[in-house]
Amino acid sequence: MDKQKLTTLARQALRFSYSPYSKFRVGAAVIGNNGKSYTGTNVENASYGLTICAERVAITKAVSEGVTGFTALSVAVAHKRAAVPCGACLQVFGEFAKNDAVVILCNEDGQTVVETTFGELLTQPFRSIRQDR
Ligand code: THU
Repeated sequence: MDKQKLTTLARQALRFSYSPYSKFRVGAAVIGNNGKSYTGTNVENASYGLTICAERVAITKAVSEGVTGFTALSVAVAHKRAAVPCGACLQVFGEFAKNDAVVILCNEDGQTVVETTFGELLTQPFRSIRQDR
């Protein structure tokens, strides 16, 4: 799957964004190491804190179908400026992705604003470390 196709999928997912509270539509798409792609949108709730981000929806859809590795993530927003995934989503993505996994951020025009890697965005994910480190 090419990057452009992944971004198209993330943008298509925007249409199902359930975001009546923030009105900030987010769509995400990931490529699993089985070669398949999975999409997600943000799903908000009247109890705001229960909101789930688009990235984690895409990731959990894939993992719940047996995928345990990702090579790329594309995030689309319905705004002029692209958005960087939140720390929680990066931590969850990092559970299943290597540092060189591609992360693409795109805006409402479908323009790729940033192409980076997971390792660039989250340099120190939560993990246990040795005391003498
Ligand atoms: N949101 C995402 O879907 N992904 C992120 O990485 C951060 C924020 C959503 C949550 C909420 O519905 C809206 O964007 C505004 O925060």
